[in-house]
Amino acid sequence: MQFHVGVIAGDGIGPEIVEEAKKVLDAVGKAYGHEFSYEPILMGGCSIDATGVPLTDEAIQQAKGSDAVLMGSIGGDTRTSPWYKLEPSLRPEAGLLKLRKSLNLFANLRPAYLFDELRKACPLKEEVIGKGFDLAIMRELTGGLYFGKRETKKVDGVLQATDTLTYNENEIRRIAKKAFSIAMQRRKKVTSVDKANVLDSSRLWRKVVEEVAKDYPEVTLDHMLVDNCAMQLVKDPGQFDVILTENMFGDILSDEASMVSGSIGMLSSASFNDTDFGLYEPSHGSAPDIAGQDIANPIATILSAAMMLRFSFKLDKEADAVENAVKTVLKKGYRTVDILPQEKEEIAGFTQVSCSRMGSLIADAVKASA
Ligand code: IPM
Ligand code: MG
Repeated sequence: MQFHVGVIAGDGIGPEIVEEAKKVLDAVGKAYGHEFSYEPILMGGCSIDATGVPLTDEAIQQAKGSDAVLMGSIGGDTRTSPWYKLEPSLRPEAGLLKLRKSLNLFANLRPAYLFDELRKACPLKEEVIGKGFDLAIMRELTGGLYFGKRETKKVDGVLQATDTLTYNENEIRRIAKKAFSIAMQRRKKVTSVDKANVLDSSRLWRKVVEEVAKDYPEVTLDHMLVDNCAMQLVKDPGQFDVILTENMFGDILSDEASMVSGSIGMLSSASFNDTDFGLYEPSHGSAPDIAGQDIANPIATILSAAMMLRFSFKLDKEADAVENAVKTVLKKGYRTVDILPQEKEEIAGFTQVSCSRMGSLIADAVKASA
């Protein structure tokens, strides 16, 4: 089959890691008889440099015209990059937020699991990791504090800033449905995370999630307060299957979950609207400090491409092939520097490889699997 992929390479390490994901997709194409065409789309700092804004209307149209979008990362060093001297609505991140809103990408799925091969990189104690963990955060992505009314003004001569957190029941219902349907494909457990002891928006969240749960009798639903969830993620991550939460809580908890899994360089993510369309991107940022050195870890982006195959293109076998290829290459001891054991005594049996070599190894393993 033919698939048209919009490609947002972005800034920092974005272009390097996206190149490796394309390499792997091309290997999938060759091995399984598909054709992927790629259309570059400007977003982030590179778009600011080329057009003056982080996302043009043309770029939005290009994304809308694609079967799915694969993204690297956007943004630069907030302390030194001239992009961060611009007003907030013209900075790189504003492009991403605008794209999410324009494409109605309200559901953000961020898996976090322990790679057996990288158990040692997990910062938790062995007795806490136990049998390992495999969770997925379903984060609401187009509402809440991110998109509420905000303003900064002087009140009685004193500067005052306001952000507002609004959710209506329809926004909560549609993300809850996504979480429950993903849970049906997994271990059938949803933990809905809120701050219902304080916030009205959370109390409505809880009520609507309870209603949605009635349509999924096989799924067990728990509620957890967000502060407790932050604690439980490091205390016993194995208790979670699907965590359902609002935008800001999900932003924070997904960073925590990725760290707990040992390497943020390994974790993929996907954002969905109500169709099969999706935006696929690694969970990590643009790492401007290591950009252009061919040392970044492309695995999160490659696994994001695997999610694209699975969720947007319905190519499960091909997605499995990519995920297995990653495991095979890790098993053989190949590591980018971020996942290389740090202790000298532990380094035997591992081969340090560059970003491009890691991509080639995984592409070769995909071809060998067909
Ligand atoms: C993320 C990022 C974004 C967010 C930033 C870049 C606006 O942190 O995707 O988690 O907060 O959503
Ligand atoms: Mg974030």
